[in-house]
Amino acid sequence: MSIKTAPLSYGLGVEVLDVDLASPMSDAVFGEIRQAFLAHDGLLLLRNQAITREQHIAFSRRFGDLDTHDAVPLDRHPQYHELLMVANEPVVEGLSNGRYIGQQWHSDLAPSLRPAMGSLLRAVQVPSAGGDTMFTNMYAAYDGLSEGMKKLVADLHGVHVRGRKNVSAEWEANNRRINPPVAQPVVRVHPETGRKALYIGEAVQTFEAMTQEESRPIIDFLIRHATRPQFGYRHRWRNNDIVMWDNRCTMHLALGDYDQSQRRHLERTTVLGTPSGHICELAA
Ligand code: SIN
Repeated sequence: MSIKTAPLSYGLGVEVLDVDLASPMSDAVFGEIRQAFLAHDGLLLLRNQAITREQHIAFSRRFGDLDTHDAVPLDRHPQYHELLMVANEPVVEGLSNGRYIGQQWHSDLAPSLRPAMGSLLRAVQVPSAGGDTMFTNMYAAYDGLSEGMKKLVADLHGVHVRGRKNVSAEWEANNRRINPPVAQPVVRVHPETGRKALYIGEAVQTFEAMTQEESRPIIDFLIRHATRPQFGYRHRWRNNDIVMWDNRCTMHLALGDYDQSQRRHLERTTVLGTPSGHICELAA
Protein backbone atom coordinates (compact mmCIF):
# COMPACT_ATOMS: atom_id res chain seq x y z
CA MET A 1 0.00 0.00 0.00
CA SER A 2 1.54 3.33 -1.01
CA ILE A 3 -1.04 5.77 0.45
CA LYS A 4 -0.76 6.89 4.09
CA THR A 5 -3.91 6.66 6.18
CA ALA A 6 -5.11 7.34 9.74
CA PRO A 7 -8.40 6.23 11.34
CA LEU A 8 -10.99 8.97 11.90
CA SER A 9 -12.85 7.43 14.84
CA TYR A 10 -13.63 4.12 16.53
CA GLY A 11 -17.00 3.95 14.74
CA LEU A 12 -15.88 4.39 11.14
CA GLY A 13 -13.80 6.38 8.71
CA VAL A 14 -10.28 6.93 7.48
CA GLU A 15 -8.25 9.96 6.51
CA VAL A 16 -6.01 9.60 3.46
CA LEU A 17 -3.04 11.83 4.21
CA ASP A 18 -0.99 12.23 1.09
CA VAL A 19 -3.05 12.64 -2.06
CA ASP A 20 -3.54 15.72 -4.22
CA LEU A 21 -6.59 15.58 -6.44
CA ALA A 22 -5.25 18.49 -8.52
CA SER A 23 -2.50 16.17 -9.86
CA PRO A 24 -2.94 13.11 -12.06
CA MET A 25 -3.64 9.92 -10.07
CA SER A 26 -2.73 6.42 -11.28
CA ASP A 27 -5.33 3.63 -11.30
CA ALA A 28 -3.21 1.83 -8.66
CA VAL A 29 -3.43 4.74 -6.19
CA PHE A 30 -7.12 5.22 -6.98
CA GLY A 31 -7.63 1.49 -6.29
CA GLU A 32 -5.96 1.86 -2.87
CA ILE A 33 -8.21 4.81 -2.00
CA ARG A 34 -11.27 2.82 -2.98
CA GLN A 35 -10.08 -0.15 -0.88
CA ALA A 36 -9.47 2.11 2.15
CA PHE A 37 -12.97 3.55 1.73
CA LEU A 38 -14.57 0.07 1.74
CA ALA A 39 -12.33 -1.27 4.53
CA HIS A 40 -13.17 1.63 6.88
CA ASP A 41 -16.92 1.13 6.54
CA GLY A 42 -17.54 3.79 3.92
CA LEU A 43 -16.17 7.11 5.17
CA LEU A 44 -13.12 8.87 3.75
CA LEU A 45 -11.56 12.26 4.45
CA LEU A 46 -9.18 14.12 2.13
CA ARG A 47 -7.92 17.49 3.44
CA ASN A 48 -6.36 20.46 1.61
CA GLN A 49 -7.93 19.76 -1.77
CA ALA A 50 -8.05 23.18 -3.44
CA ILE A 51 -9.53 21.83 -6.66
CA THR A 52 -11.82 23.16 -9.38
CA ARG A 53 -15.41 22.07 -9.97
CA GLU A 54 -14.23 20.13 -13.03
CA GLN A 55 -11.64 18.24 -10.93
CA HIS A 56 -14.23 17.47 -8.24
CA ILE A 57 -16.55 16.02 -10.90
CA ALA A 58 -13.76 14.11 -12.67
CA PHE A 59 -12.51 12.46 -9.44
CA SER A 60 -16.08 11.53 -8.44
CA ARG A 61 -16.71 9.96 -11.85
CA ARG A 62 -13.95 7.43 -11.22
CA PHE A 63 -16.29 5.84 -8.64
CA GLY A 64 -19.22 5.49 -11.09
CA ASP A 65 -22.04 7.31 -12.90
CA LEU A 66 -22.99 10.64 -11.35
CA ASP A 67 -26.49 11.82 -10.51
CA THR A 68 -27.60 15.04 -12.20
CA HIS A 69 -29.85 15.93 -9.23
CA ASP A 70 -33.06 15.95 -11.28
CA ALA A 71 -35.01 15.31 -8.04
CA VAL A 72 -33.88 18.70 -6.66
CA PRO A 73 -33.47 20.96 -9.74
CA LEU A 74 -33.61 24.14 -7.65
CA ASP A 75 -30.57 23.05 -5.62
CA ARG A 76 -28.12 22.04 -8.35
CA HIS A 77 -25.60 24.23 -10.08
CA PRO A 78 -27.24 25.59 -13.28
CA GLN A 79 -24.25 24.67 -15.49
CA TYR A 80 -22.82 21.70 -13.56
CA HIS A 81 -25.85 19.53 -12.84
CA GLU A 82 -23.56 16.98 -11.17
CA LEU A 83 -23.04 19.49 -8.34
CA LEU A 84 -25.57 19.95 -5.53
CA MET A 85 -25.13 23.35 -3.87
CA VAL A 86 -25.18 22.94 -0.10
CA ALA A 87 -24.95 26.60 0.89
CA ASN A 88 -26.75 28.92 3.28
CA GLU A 89 -27.16 31.60 0.64
CA PRO A 90 -28.05 31.24 -3.04
CA VAL A 91 -24.66 30.76 -4.70
CA VAL A 92 -26.10 31.45 -8.12
CA GLU A 93 -28.86 33.93 -8.98
CA GLY A 94 -32.25 32.18 -9.09
CA LEU A 95 -31.12 29.12 -7.14
CA SER A 96 -32.90 28.13 -3.92
CA ASN A 97 -31.20 28.44 -0.56
CA GLY A 98 -29.66 25.06 0.31
CA ARG A 99 -29.29 25.90 4.02
CA TYR A 100 -31.53 23.09 5.22
CA ILE A 101 -30.21 20.29 2.99
CA GLY A 102 -29.57 17.16 4.99
CA GLN A 103 -30.82 18.31 8.40
CA GLN A 104 -32.28 14.91 9.19
CA TRP A 105 -30.65 11.46 9.40
CA HIS A 106 -30.67 10.04 5.89
CA SER A 107 -28.90 8.19 3.13
CA ASP A 108 -28.67 10.09 -0.17
CA LEU A 109 -31.26 9.33 -2.86
CA ALA A 110 -33.02 6.74 -0.65
CA PRO A 111 -36.39 8.09 -1.93
CA SER A 112 -35.47 7.11 -5.49
CA LEU A 113 -35.19 3.94 -7.56
CA ARG A 114 -31.41 4.27 -7.88
CA PRO A 115 -30.18 5.21 -4.41
CA ALA A 116 -26.71 6.68 -4.11
CA MET A 117 -23.59 4.57 -3.82
CA GLY A 118 -21.44 7.45 -2.60
CA SER A 119 -21.39 11.20 -2.08
CA LEU A 120 -18.35 13.50 -2.20
CA LEU A 121 -18.89 16.75 -0.31
CA ARG A 122 -16.29 19.49 -0.74
CA ALA A 123 -16.05 22.41 1.67
CA VAL A 124 -15.54 25.69 -0.16
CA GLN A 125 -16.14 28.01 2.80
CA VAL A 126 -17.13 26.99 6.31
CA PRO A 127 -18.11 29.01 9.40
CA SER A 128 -15.54 29.74 12.12
CA ALA A 129 -17.28 27.29 14.49
CA GLY A 130 -19.83 24.52 13.91
CA GLY A 131 -21.67 23.60 10.74
CA ASP A 132 -20.55 20.03 11.47
CA THR A 133 -21.81 16.83 9.84
CA MET A 134 -22.53 13.61 11.75
CA PHE A 135 -22.07 10.13 10.25
CA THR A 136 -23.11 6.74 11.56
CA ASN A 137 -22.13 3.18 10.68
CA MET A 138 -25.11 1.15 9.49
CA TYR A 139 -23.20 -2.16 9.42
CA ALA A 140 -22.54 -1.70 13.13
CA ALA A 141 -26.17 -0.71 13.65
CA TYR A 142 -27.37 -3.93 11.96
CA ASP A 143 -24.80 -6.11 13.74
CA GLY A 144 -25.84 -4.57 17.09
CA LEU A 145 -29.50 -5.63 16.80
CA SER A 146 -30.78 -8.65 18.75
CA GLU A 147 -31.52 -11.80 16.74
CA GLY A 148 -35.25 -11.20 17.35
CA MET A 149 -35.11 -7.68 15.93
CA LYS A 150 -33.03 -8.88 12.95
CA LYS A 151 -35.84 -11.37 12.17
CA LEU A 152 -38.51 -8.69 12.58
CA VAL A 153 -36.88 -6.25 10.15
CA ALA A 154 -35.57 -8.84 7.65
CA ASP A 155 -38.46 -8.53 5.18
CA LEU A 156 -39.67 -5.01 5.95
CA HIS A 157 -39.68 -2.19 3.42
CA GLY A 158 -39.49 1.40 4.66
CA VAL A 159 -41.46 4.04 2.73
CA HIS A 160 -39.08 6.99 2.14
CA VAL A 161 -40.75 10.36 1.45
CA ARG A 162 -38.51 13.17 0.20
CA GLY A 163 -38.98 16.40 2.15
CA ARG A 164 -37.11 19.27 3.76
CA LYS A 165 -37.68 21.77 6.56
CA ASN A 166 -38.29 25.46 5.80
CA VAL A 167 -38.54 25.21 2.02
CA SER A 168 -40.40 27.57 -0.33
CA ALA A 169 -43.90 26.70 -1.58
CA GLU A 170 -42.36 26.34 -5.07
CA TRP A 171 -39.81 23.78 -3.78
CA GLU A 172 -42.53 21.76 -2.03
CA ALA A 173 -44.93 21.80 -5.03
CA ASN A 174 -42.13 20.69 -7.35
CA ASN A 175 -41.06 18.01 -4.88
CA ARG A 176 -44.54 16.45 -4.61
CA ARG A 177 -44.88 16.37 -8.39
CA ILE A 178 -41.57 14.68 -9.19
CA ASN A 179 -40.74 12.59 -6.10
CA PRO A 180 -43.34 9.92 -5.21
CA PRO A 181 -42.78 7.80 -2.05
CA VAL A 182 -40.37 4.89 -2.58
CA ALA A 183 -40.27 1.65 -0.56
CA GLN A 184 -36.76 0.34 0.19
CA PRO A 185 -35.68 -2.83 2.02
CA VAL A 186 -34.80 -2.09 5.65
CA VAL A 187 -31.85 -4.48 5.40
CA ARG A 188 -29.62 -4.28 2.33
CA VAL A 189 -26.63 -6.40 1.39
CA HIS A 190 -23.68 -4.25 0.37
CA PRO A 191 -22.86 -5.27 -3.21
CA GLU A 192 -19.08 -4.91 -2.75
CA THR A 193 -18.46 -6.19 0.79
CA GLY A 194 -21.35 -8.68 1.04
CA ARG A 195 -22.15 -7.36 4.56
CA LYS A 196 -25.66 -6.54 5.77
CA ALA A 197 -26.47 -2.95 6.71
CA LEU A 198 -29.56 -1.30 8.14
CA TYR A 199 -31.22 1.04 5.62
CA ILE A 200 -33.52 3.47 7.38
CA GLY A 201 -33.74 7.22 7.97
CA GLU A 202 -35.92 10.05 9.18
CA ALA A 203 -37.60 10.23 5.75
CA VAL A 204 -39.17 6.81 6.45
CA GLN A 205 -42.79 7.44 7.37
CA THR A 206 -44.11 3.91 7.56
CA PHE A 207 -43.36 0.30 6.63
CA GLU A 208 -45.08 -1.15 3.60
CA ALA A 209 -48.12 -3.31 4.49
CA MET A 210 -48.24 -1.83 8.00
CA THR A 211 -50.06 1.22 9.38
CA GLN A 212 -48.16 4.32 10.43
CA GLU A 213 -49.26 3.66 14.02
CA GLU A 214 -47.76 0.16 13.93
CA SER A 215 -44.59 1.30 12.16
CA ARG A 216 -43.72 4.44 14.16
CA PRO A 217 -42.33 2.84 17.34
CA ILE A 218 -40.10 0.49 15.31
CA ILE A 219 -38.85 3.31 13.06
CA ASP A 220 -38.10 5.47 16.10
CA PHE A 221 -36.26 2.62 17.82
CA LEU A 222 -34.17 1.82 14.72
CA ILE A 223 -33.10 5.45 14.24
CA ARG A 224 -32.30 5.86 17.96
CA HIS A 225 -30.32 2.61 17.88
CA ALA A 226 -28.48 3.40 14.61
CA THR A 227 -27.38 6.82 15.85
CA ARG A 228 -25.82 5.69 19.14
CA PRO A 229 -22.66 7.76 19.66
CA GLN A 230 -20.37 4.71 19.59
CA PHE A 231 -21.33 4.01 15.95
CA GLY A 232 -20.58 7.54 14.83
CA TYR A 233 -18.17 10.24 13.75
CA ARG A 234 -18.63 14.02 13.86
CA HIS A 235 -16.83 15.94 11.15
CA ARG A 236 -15.63 19.46 11.89
CA TRP A 237 -15.09 21.01 8.47
CA ARG A 238 -12.11 22.98 7.23
CA ASN A 239 -12.03 24.76 3.88
CA ASN A 240 -10.93 22.39 1.07
CA ASP A 241 -11.92 19.21 2.94
CA ILE A 242 -13.56 16.49 0.88
CA VAL A 243 -15.54 13.87 2.76
CA MET A 244 -16.81 10.86 0.83
CA TRP A 245 -19.38 8.54 2.37
CA ASP A 246 -20.92 5.26 1.29
CA ASN A 247 -24.70 5.65 1.38
CA ARG A 248 -25.15 1.86 1.33
CA CYS A 249 -23.70 1.45 4.83
CA THR A 250 -23.83 4.90 6.51
CA MET A 251 -26.34 7.64 7.34
CA HIS A 252 -25.50 11.29 7.87
CA LEU A 253 -26.96 14.50 9.28
CA ALA A 254 -26.10 18.18 8.80
CA LEU A 255 -26.30 19.64 12.30
CA GLY A 256 -26.98 23.27 11.35
CA ASP A 257 -25.05 24.27 14.51
CA TYR A 258 -23.54 27.55 13.35
CA ASP A 259 -23.98 31.31 13.18
CA GLN A 260 -26.20 31.86 10.14
CA SER A 261 -24.67 35.28 9.47
CA GLN A 262 -21.50 33.40 8.43
CA ARG A 263 -21.20 31.68 5.08
CA ARG A 264 -21.36 27.88 4.83
CA HIS A 265 -20.82 26.72 1.28
CA LEU A 266 -20.20 23.12 0.28
CA GLU A 267 -20.71 21.33 -3.03
CA ARG A 268 -21.63 17.67 -3.46
CA THR A 269 -21.41 15.10 -6.21
CA THR A 270 -23.50 11.95 -5.89
CA VAL A 271 -22.38 8.61 -7.33
CA LEU A 272 -25.29 6.40 -8.37
CA GLY A 273 -25.64 2.92 -6.89
CA THR A 274 -27.50 -0.19 -8.01
CA PRO A 275 -31.28 -0.05 -8.64
CA SER A 276 -33.36 -0.70 -5.52
CA GLY A 277 -36.91 -0.24 -4.23
CA HIS A 278 -40.26 0.49 -5.85
CA ILE A 279 -42.70 3.38 -6.00
CA CYS A 280 -45.58 2.97 -3.57
CA GLU A 281 -48.54 4.65 -1.88
CA LEU A 282 -48.22 6.16 1.57
CA ALA A 283 -50.59 4.20 3.83
CA ALA A 284 -52.49 6.05 6.57
C1 SIN B 1 -25.87 16.43 2.75
O1 SIN B 1 -26.75 15.80 3.33
O2 SIN B 1 -25.39 16.07 1.70
C2 SIN B 1 -25.33 17.71 3.36
C3 SIN B 1 -24.53 17.49 4.59
C4 SIN B 1 -24.04 18.78 5.19
O3 SIN B 1 -24.39 19.87 4.73
O4 SIN B 1 -23.32 18.73 6.18
